Amino acid sequence: MSDRYAVFGNPIKHSKSPQIHTAFAEQTTQTLSYDAICVEEGGFPAAVDNFLQGEGKGLNITIPFKQEAWQMAEQRSARAELAGAVNTLYRDAEGLLCGDNTDGVGMVRDIVENNGGTITGADVLILGAGGAVRGVLQPVLEQKPNRVVIANRTASKAEDLAALVADLGEVEGCGFDALPGQQFDLVINGTAASLQGEVPPLPDDLLKSGAWCYDMMYGADVTAFCQWANEHGAEQAIDGLGMLVEQAAESFYIWRGVRPETAPVIATLRAALTP
Ligand code: ATR
Repeated sequence: MSDRYAVFGNPIKHSKSPQIHTAFAEQTTQTLSYDAICVEEGGFPAAVDNFLQGEGKGLNITIPFKQEAWQMAEQRSARAELAGAVNTLYRDAEGLLCGDNTDGVGMVRDIVENNGGTITGADVLILGAGGAVRGVLQPVLEQKPNRVVIANRTASKAEDLAALVADLGEVEGCGFDALPGQQFDLVINGTAASLQGEVPPLPDDLLKSGAWCYDMMYGADVTAFCQWANEHGAEQAIDGLGMLVEQAAESFYIWRGVRPETAPVIATLRAALTP
């Protein structure tokens, strides 16, 4: 029997992870299977324990179980610890349940390596203060930006997140009303506003000349935030499809010790999205 992997979530029908990991496995000639499994709320710990025995070697975890996976993990990477969420589970040689979070490193790699963008030294604005934003803060700060502003509809949540990572760099939390008069080199959208096709209320002159915008969301059409970016002079407006593939590649590397090439997989997914 080959090694088994899966993503646990609910709902899970639309997950692209099986397609991505199957492509990685073919490309690197690794023998494994990867399934998308819908887990009932309340049944998560038992499902993890059942899966990670025998041929079950690793799991990706998605909504709504990332926090539960964090709690369950007996050992967490530094980036997962700070993210408060785990998207990658596996057992180490001693049998300890290890949790990691590859979302942030996936986004940073998509910005810096795939697209040639710069976070180091940049004035960075992050929109949103939910789980998605918390998940990427440490890898963004590791790039040593000049400063990071976290702006959120509920200002107190942005302030709390900023306080959480205060040791890692120059970070400030605020509401959207504090943005007028400030300008940024890179604006990252981690709000769920995109799901409703909405963009947070942003000043028209938010972007510095040559600024880049990155949306953690993606879709068949240009996202509402990327559309806003294009209309407000962004040099680049990038959606989160590359982040999705890069976080998967990092999980694959953790499990298999082999780094797959992501560009062909991103291209295949992009082609399939295009209406
Ligand atoms: P996720 O795990 O996707 O981050 P979350 O933790 O529920 O989900 O966080 C959603 C984020 O999107 C929050 O920052 C939320 O703002 P609030 O903290 O004020 O609720 C933000 N958000 C959701 N809908 C929004 C909208 N229409 N406009 C602006 N921000 C929105």
